[in-house]
Amino acid sequence: MRVGVLISGRGSNMVALADAAREGRVPGAQVVLVLSDKPRAGGLERARERGIETAVVERRGRTREEHEREVAAALRAAGVELVCLAGYMRLLSPCFLGEFRGRVLNIHPSLLPAFPGLDAQRQAVEHGVKVSGCTVHFVDETLDGGPVVTQRVVPVLDSDTPETLSARILVEEHRAYTEALALVCSGRYEVVGRRVARL
Ligand code: GAR
Repeated sequence: MRVGVLISGRGSNMVALADAAREGRVPGAQVVLVLSDKPRAGGLERARERGIETAVVERRGRTREEHEREVAAALRAAGVELVCLAGYMRLLSPCFLGEFRGRVLNIHPSLLPAFPGLDAQRQAVEHGVKVSGCTVHFVDETLDGGPVVTQRVVPVLDSDTPETLSARILVEEHRAYTEALALVCSGRYEVVGRRVARL
């Protein structure tokens, strides 16, 4: 499975996926392209260090449609079969999703459907929940709303700030995304309505 990872920032989830694939912990997966909408994303350098092809398609100076068309073209040119969003801070339109339907995964730092959107860890701390975590899900047209592949739970401590909670969740994100990628690459699942069932 040729995997393309879209990032906007430091790319720690991308590194987790790329290293897991290279070390054979995700049989059949290879990260072939890391694409960022931000030229300064730290993850680009981390991808280059690993010998992975990188690309930048900035949103600035393009319409949303032009931007997505270019992103899709870069993924196509690299022969990408599965797209993993890893801290990619843009919403994808139905036009993009039409081409990659059922082949786009995202990771979100909360137990969805709780706390979708931006600043999920801050939302969790401010709401006062006692557990939070992360969710890997298939992407559809809704905001953080597609079928859930896997979730991992962490405690929220009374002393937590958004930063300390984010750090605890991030450790689990790397595990969850690797596990979800392995499941999707194995093909041993089916999506029935909103439910992703293991076969
Ligand atoms: C991660 O915590 C990811 O879950 C979050 O951005 C961070 C990216 O970190 N994504 C979202 O909030 C998407 N709504 P990374 O660049 O180190 O992987």
